Amino acid sequence: MNVPLSHPALFRTQSLVDGAWVDAHDGSTYAVHNPYDRSVLAHVPDLAAADTHRAIAAAERAWQHWRTTTAGERAQHLRALHALMIKHADDLATLLTLEQGKPLAEARGEILYGASFIEWFAEEARRAYGDVIPGHAADKRIITIRQPVGVVAIITPWNFPNAMIARKLGAALAAGCTAVIKPAGNTPLSALALAQLAQEAGLPPGVVNVLTTDHPAEVGSALCASPLVRKLSFTGSTAVGKLLLRQCADTVKKVSLELGGNAPFIVFDDADLNAAVEGAVVSKFRNAGQTCVCANRLYVQTGVYDAFMARFKAAVATLKVGDGMAADVALGPVIDHRALQKIQGMLDDALAQGATLEQGGQVLVPGSTLLVPTILGGAHAGMRLAHEEVFGPVAPVFRFDTEAEVIALANDTDYGLAAYFYGRDIGRIWRVAEALEYGMVGINTGLISTAVAPFGGVKQSGMGREGSKYGLEDYMEVKYLCFGL
Ligand code: SIN
Repeated sequence: MNVPLSHPALFRTQSLVDGAWVDAHDGSTYAVHNPYDRSVLAHVPDLAAADTHRAIAAAERAWQHWRTTTAGERAQHLRALHALMIKHADDLATLLTLEQGKPLAEARGEILYGASFIEWFAEEARRAYGDVIPGHAADKRIITIRQPVGVVAIITPWNFPNAMIARKLGAALAAGCTAVIKPAGNTPLSALALAQLAQEAGLPPGVVNVLTTDHPAEVGSALCASPLVRKLSFTGSTAVGKLLLRQCADTVKKVSLELGGNAPFIVFDDADLNAAVEGAVVSKFRNAGQTCVCANRLYVQTGVYDAFMARFKAAVATLKVGDGMAADVALGPVIDHRALQKIQGMLDDALAQGATLEQGGQVLVPGSTLLVPTILGGAHAGMRLAHEEVFGPVAPVFRFDTEAEVIALANDTDYGLAAYFYGRDIGRIWRVAEALEYGMVGINTGLISTAVAPFGGVKQSGMGREGSKYGLEDYMEVKYLCFGL
């Protein structure tokens, strides 16, 4: 396919191993589709375990030098990569929209978001301080130093094909680790474009490797089983995260997991309703509802339920679903038909159990995955929507009466990634913020993602934190040195 890019070298259709663009060892490929119309965008290598082992070996070789570079040198490479991402943001956004479907402006936002992690970790590279600890005996002196863990496996999802890599890769490179990246099978082009920019930024061969594959289980297992891989960082579903965690047990890897969510979005009676509606729209419908931090359950206090619902419906009615490349589109397609069927199953279950269809519910063009933004009223805890991640543009609205009731409902889930609430009572704000069993809480805001804050969850939403001053820690070991005098 002819993809209109100002920098055509960004359209890469081979994997990157040891600084070379390569095919699968057996020459096999698979097709990458545009989720809007299912047209074929490219064919990329379908790598297997044998290819994965080559990439791991290359990353291990490259690490022997990369680990000895100064933080300043690594920061320089990251700054160069950041500058290239900004320079080519439009091209990167075009590739992202074509393979993922999100609207072009949102895709550009993702590129800037991704670049912000590279910039952040360029700065953090120099702050990997150790400690001087008062000794436990008169003839002892104790210090700690931080060292890179080694080769890192990075496995990322299709919903943020650029930013989820950048968030992990920035930290890994800053810490002095090398990386083997396995992007989602349906969105490899953004990863390959980023790898091209890493090459242009002068990163040495083998420091960044990207494996495209339509056999994620085989490549994932090879990465987890290898003793040379010292850390896994994964963003994706809780089910796959659990599997990878088990697979990493035999080699006792460090593991960071950013998994599924089931975010409550609570609107109290004293909330600024316009702000709450704005926050609900952005939190629920960003990326067509396909983010782990999307509002999954909207709890609205009885006193403002009708007013909130009326304004929410009016706001959502303005959102146009369609081709992400079109200027006026706010929501792209759901990623594929399997995802659409799952969403429709949850919708049917809710309607069968008494939910009211307030808006949407239908596919815009028969045969497509363009689901019209949907609002359900009268949702309750017995519905699948209350316990499973919808991962689509469906907003179930629940009614509640008391603070204690809504906290119990909000925490009644295995997940604990993001939660949101709107209200003005300062005492209640503190009580609710502390009571919610989540890694991240948005208070009077529906958008919490930023490179400067720690992103991550509790319970079955994962372990570890990404971004922020904590993000580097997961890629480093603390070594304690005890000096006898
Ligand atoms: C995710 O959906 O996994 C990430 C969302 C974000 O970084 O905002």
